[in-house]
Amino acid sequence: MFSLKNKIAVITGGGSGIGKAIALLFARQGATIHIIELNTDAANDVITEIKSASGNGQAHAANVAEQQSVVNVFNAIGKVDILVNNAGIAHVGNLERTSEADLDRIYNVNVKGAYNCLFAAVPLMKAAGKGAILNMASIAAHVGISDRFAYSMSKGAIYAMSMSVARDYLADNIRCNSISPARVHTPFVDGFIAKNYPDNQAEIFAKLSKSQPIGRMGQPDEIAALALYLCSDEASFITGVDYPIDGGFITLNN
Ligand SMILES: NC(=O)c1ccc[n+]([C@@H]2O[C@H](COP(=O)([O-])OP(=O)(O)OC[C@H]3O[C@@H](n4cnc5c(N)ncnc54)[C@H](O)[C@@H]3O)[C@@H](O)[C@H]2O)c1
Repeated sequence: MFSLKNKIAVITGGGSGIGKAIALLFARQGATIHIIELNTDAANDVITEIKSASGNGQAHAANVAEQQSVVNVFNAIGKVDILVNNAGIAHVGNLERTSEADLDRIYNVNVKGAYNCLFAAVPLMKAAGKGAILNMASIAAHVGISDRFAYSMSKGAIYAMSMSVARDYLADNIRCNSISPARVHTPFVDGFIAKNYPDNQAEIFAKLSKSQPIGRMGQPDEIAALALYLCSDEASFITGVDYPIDGGFITLNN
């Protein structure tokens, strides 16, 4: 079960955190991995790790926010069975602490970046008569998280985008789902704690850990396992669904 043998998987932001865990797991399951990354060194390191374990893959330097670069990468790859729209960035701030530039930055990467990859991948999947898409949303798409105005907006858009694509491409045998993690311990989390709470990092880390009723943050491998299921043929009856993976954050925080 859960074999990805002979499948080609494109993973954005696969050089770090959740995307890296997904790239490594999908490669172990037999997929050829294409990582689209801003951080070329990190992406190359992941591909080296995949190849040293007898897997196959390639790193592509591109900013998902730039449509032409993204289209060029997908056309070079030529065939895509699985797309994981994972690349994303954070902004901490309520409405009044979100400038126009902050909003544009988050929109361009988190929303337009996912759209650009869908725009490039869906025609290739249609031509192949099948495809599986997984978009990385967040609990912030579903519940009010303090000081995450722009980020929550972007993840709400990912959720709605996933439903739209799932509906429109049913007849093309393309499935599209999303995942909504709560806090997962990655460089993304360490980075925004260091940037926004430089004086009390340990305290904020403990607070963020406890905000999951299960008492800790998630691990990237735990997210990758759900991603594998949803992108595998075993999930062939699943489309148009968002899966919280959140240590009880949405349903048990009362
Ligand atoms: N970590 C969490 O707590 C958490 C929770 C919910 C959702 N998410 C979402 O999961 C995804 C991955 O998060 P992570 O924690 O692994 O982050 P991360 O920062 O560890 O990794 C993100 C990767 O995306 C790449 N990237 C960023 N902007 C890019 C761009 N414009 N073009 C190409 N690549 C780009 C970065 O270089 C980085 O390697 C994001 O969409 C994030 O919003 C994370």
